[in-house]
Amino acid sequence: MDTKKFYITTPIYYPSGKFHIGTAYTTVLADTIKKYKMARGYEVRLLTGVDEHGQKIETIAKEKNLTPQEYVDFMAEEAKKLWKLMEIDYDDFFRTTNPNHEKVVAEIFDKLMEQGDIYKSEYEGWYCMPCETYFTETQLVDGKCPDCGREVSRMKEEAYFFNMKKYADRLIKYYEENPDFITPESRKNELMNNFLKPGLEDLCITRTSFDWGIKVKKDPKHVIYVWLDALTNYITSLGYMTDDDTLMKKFWPADLQIVGKDIIRFHGIYWPIFLMALNLPLPKQIYAHGFVMMKDGRMSKSKGNVIYPEVLVERYGLDATRYYLLRELPYGQDGTFSPESFVERFNYDLCNDLGNLLNRTIGMINKYCNGIIPKYNGIKNSVDKELEEYTLNQIKVIEEQIDTVHISNALAEIWNLISRANKYVDETSPWVLAKSDDNEDKEKLDSVMYHLAESLRKIAILLNPFITHTSNKMFKQLGILDENLKTWTSLEKYDLINENTKVVEKGEPLFMRLDQEQEIEFIKNQMK
Ligand code: MSP
Repeated sequence: MDTKKFYITTPIYYPSGKFHIGTAYTTVLADTIKKYKMARGYEVRLLTGVDEHGQKIETIAKEKNLTPQEYVDFMAEEAKKLWKLMEIDYDDFFRTTNPNHEKVVAEIFDKLMEQGDIYKSEYEGWYCMPCETYFTETQLVDGKCPDCGREVSRMKEEAYFFNMKKYADRLIKYYEENPDFITPESRKNELMNNFLKPGLEDLCITRTSFDWGIKVKKDPKHVIYVWLDALTNYITSLGYMTDDDTLMKKFWPADLQIVGKDIIRFHGIYWPIFLMALNLPLPKQIYAHGFVMMKDGRMSKSKGNVIYPEVLVERYGLDATRYYLLRELPYGQDGTFSPESFVERFNYDLCNDLGNLLNRTIGMINKYCNGIIPKYNGIKNSVDKELEEYTLNQIKVIEEQIDTVHISNALAEIWNLISRANKYVDETSPWVLAKSDDNEDKEKLDSVMYHLAESLRKIAILLNPFITHTSNKMFKQLGILDENLKTWTSLEKYDLINENTKVVEKGEPLFMRLDQEQEIEFIKNQMK
């Protein structure tokens, strides 16, 4: 049987500065889904990278006395360092300065020009001389440049346009026939009602006011401006229009393209239209997530409220950082980062709920069973039955949540499972059973210990794509070393833990409780 394939992409990042936790969110999310799909037997390809052309990059490089190429080379390494720290398991880190990409984008431009999708006209907009940048009416702040605050003037320049109008009806129809193409539904409705239905504007795709970009071959004073260059990375990275398009054949169309809400318009409208013009199939799903916000609004250096992932990972570990980000952003909506909620989630969810369940289970198995997980002996209590049924059902719920990219919900459901197991300890009172001389009570106690160990085994499997280190520590403490007991398919079974499985004598806490006040203060001081 052929392995099922899954191609997942993140946007390619502008290397205009250090990446904050908001930008890291997209990639952590994509990586988690990759790890989950792999656990479910898929061959997964995860693409990420950097979007290296454009005026902004040219300007920043100049300020730093570097050539744009020197600057983007440096930034690409910085990005890779961060993804290494966050343990992002990408298959391709794509750069738009890749010569092959540059060649293919120029060829795509020519092809689209030849088939009449691109035409030459004039671009008109509000121009800021010092920033050498055009802005639209709505981008201006109090009628002035949104970047430097200076006066702007109305200017015109020759430019090439893509005929979006030509494809609008086809795209509307596609939206209607494929209700899960753009998710969440609210974003799809926004695109439909605010852009598609009122009538699409054609898109300006070249500029003559800067140099750092891919030149139009037959008219080289024009640089292909941003979206035609950036979006096509999803296919040029697969070898589209080259001698070797094996990857393109294997992985296109993408199964899931993850983007932030700020760029859903480009991915939900322009991207499918470019693909239609190229006669290529559209991605199966585009998911737009919300933003990581701060209490005082968006993260920005000028507000001094930016938090960087390195700070959190270094002090609290990768798993706590990943857990927080993935848990805190509800499906398709914004979430607010606050030092208070970070410390709270760490202390309550990770230390108390998860950490204590493991710790008390290991403690009891040592105390009551000489450290050996008892043999599975069926169901000895009505609560055993309830726990088994609840767990098996919950696994389905969790899978469904991840399959539909409801990642925060999936974690909440895993935590329901953790709470259920904690409640099971209280319901079965193993400390009472342990005092009894009755044989039946001894059997019940063994059953409770087995069920707890088994619940933790299942929780470790479910958590693996999200917080891999913690999951591995759990297996180790439980003495579960056989890889067959760590697989997703083994979740269906209840009787897999071998006789003579020995738990560790003393389990290290998975997470050390934080001093609330001190850590809140620490995080606040790290905001820049
Ligand atoms: N270069 C374009 C994408 C081109 S894709 C063909 C771009 N780059 S970006 O660096 O500005 O953004 C990268 C990703 O980070 C985007 O998905 C964006 O939505 C996301 N985020 C930026 N700030 C964010 C938050 N505060 N919170 C969550 N995601 C955020 O856009």
